[in-house]
Amino acid sequence: MMRHVIGLGLLAGAALAQHNVTTDLTPVLAPGCNRTEPARIRPAHRIAIHYGLGRAEASLVNVTLEMRNPSVLLEEIEDISDVICDDSTVEVLFNSTTAFNLGMAEWSTSESIVLVTNHMGNCDTENERGFFLASSIAWDEATLTATASTVKKELVDTASTTEITFSNVPIAQPASKRAITVSENGITLDGNISLPTSTVLATVDDYVTLTADSAEVSASVTFSGYLKFRILGASLESLYFDIDTTLAAELGLTLDITAAYSDSLEYAPGALSYNLVNIPGIITFGPALVFAIGVELASEGSVTATADIGVAIADGNIHVDFLQMEETTVSGWEPTYSATVNVTEKAQVSVDPYVDVTVELAFELLGGLLDLSAGVTAEPRFSNEFTLSAAQDENGQVDSGNATTCENGLSIESAFEFSVVAFVTQWWSETVYSVEVPIADECYSWL
Ligand SMILES: *[C@@H]1O[C@H](CO)[C@@H](O)[C@H](O)[C@H]1NC(C)=O
Ligand SMILES: *[C@@H]1O[C@H](CO)[C@@H](O)[C@H](O)[C@H]1NC(C)=O
Ligand SMILES: *[C@@H]1O[C@H](CO)[C@@H](O)[C@H](O)[C@H]1NC(C)=O
Ligand SMILES: *[C@@H]1O[C@H](CO)[C@@H](O)[C@H](O)[C@H]1NC(C)=O
Ligand SMILES: *[C@@H]1O[C@H](CO)[C@@H](O)[C@H](O)[C@H]1NC(C)=O
Ligand SMILES: *[C@@H]1O[C@H](CO)[C@@H](O)[C@H](O)[C@H]1NC(C)=O
Ligand SMILES: *[C@@H]1O[C@H](CO)[C@@H](O)[C@H](O)[C@H]1NC(C)=O
Repeated sequence: MMRHVIGLGLLAGAALAQHNVTTDLTPVLAPGCNRTEPARIRPAHRIAIHYGLGRAEASLVNVTLEMRNPSVLLEEIEDISDVICDDSTVEVLFNSTTAFNLGMAEWSTSESIVLVTNHMGNCDTENERGFFLASSIAWDEATLTATASTVKKELVDTASTTEITFSNVPIAQPASKRAITVSENGITLDGNISLPTSTVLATVDDYVTLTADSAEVSASVTFSGYLKFRILGASLESLYFDIDTTLAAELGLTLDITAAYSDSLEYAPGALSYNLVNIPGIITFGPALVFAIGVELASEGSVTATADIGVAIADGNIHVDFLQMEETTVSGWEPTYSATVNVTEKAQVSVDPYVDVTVELAFELLGGLLDLSAGVTAEPRFSNEFTLSAAQDENGQVDSGNATTCENGLSIESAFEFSVVAFVTQWWSETVYSVEVPIADECYSWL
């Protein structure tokens, strides 16, 4: 008996082209920052810079940096009226004598300090902050101006560690049936696919037609996460995320096979499309939600099979810790399912419909210093073996191991298998949850 796999990626209305959508985040003030606090003027080794959808919007990503030199976020100081940059200086104009004097006292340390700008003009480009290493600073009391001799640096050259907490990142809605919403729980991706009734999913020459009489797949995924990366030494110190998902799939499929196959076939699922969130110079990260519907089938000859399958997961949660595997936990993945499969002929056939739902996150940190993707795939699969006991293959062997229990009849063995696989591209892949439930094991007599 030959085995064939028909898989069909249903992505953005069955368009298989890859299509990434990128949203740039812009610098925003740290939430709860009190710009009048004198402590804002004091340089610190640990600073937190925030990013959101627009300058006046809430923070969505918190990037905390362990700096090699004490650093000052000029945007957090109320009493600075202007910051002017050129190739070798950063001029800071104070509008209060108190703040000017405090700056003179705090910034005149033996160590060089880093001035972090968010003032556009010549200081930095629109969606980025500027990092300037100041070697010496001249103080002009008459104009309340500090003029620092500076060298412009890349973030990677001024920080030793970065911690990124992403909890509320919204993503531009691509031109598909996906919707992304944000709440205090994290990012939510909603993906629904519903096909017009009697959509022909696949035809193979004149032998095979796979029709979706109905197909509804919906998934909603919320995630949040944390990443810590040591820039010196390029090592990932921590990466974990939480995914909460609800998933429902209802499929009605009809499969017509008019002759035995002579070729093996495979339609690969569509390529992943990402909703990329970009913080220029720091991180690009993108969640992707992908569905695939398919049927794995094996048949000796002409047959029509109809299948109605349904699977739902009400509240699946996974906490994936990629560096401390023992911390990975899953809960709520027990699926509810239903399946009926009928075949018209007394043929030996197996019809295994499946739905794959993958949630994948891609990260590119600091211009490629760290490049990985990680995610989970939920794989509900129904297997249905129809065995005609009288039928034999060309070697004279009956395929089923239990011909004696269903003599001269048709036996049906159905099972539901479900697994959740967590993966980090190339590095690691593990089945974190799996269940296999027998649904039917019956014998029908035909002869
Ligand atoms: C989409 O983004 C992913 C993840 O960063 C990347 O691997 C892929 O090459 C991108 N595809 C296109 C067409 O840009
Ligand atoms: C901000 O800091 C100043 C100076 O420390 C203080 O007087 C003021 O009450 C603070 N404002 C808020 C809203 O906490
Ligand atoms: C930003 O992240 C750092 C490190 O995780 C944390 O200490 C800090 O409280 C966060 N800041 C805000 C405003 O959430
Ligand atoms: C100093 O300038 C800033 C920016 O223009 C302004 O917000 C602030 O109120 C000014 N402070 C004083 C004391 O004038
Ligand atoms: C997807 O379907 C679910 C359930 O039918 C519905 O609640 C949700 O709003 C739909 N989402 C989108 C993006 O259409
Ligand atoms: C299978 O056959 C039964 C009995 O004839 C019928 O009630 C059911 O709807 C059929 N299921 C499918 C998927 O065609
Ligand atoms: C065959 O039947 C026996 C007895 O009914 C049962 O114990 C065994 O599990 C069956 N084997 C298979 C492969 O179905």
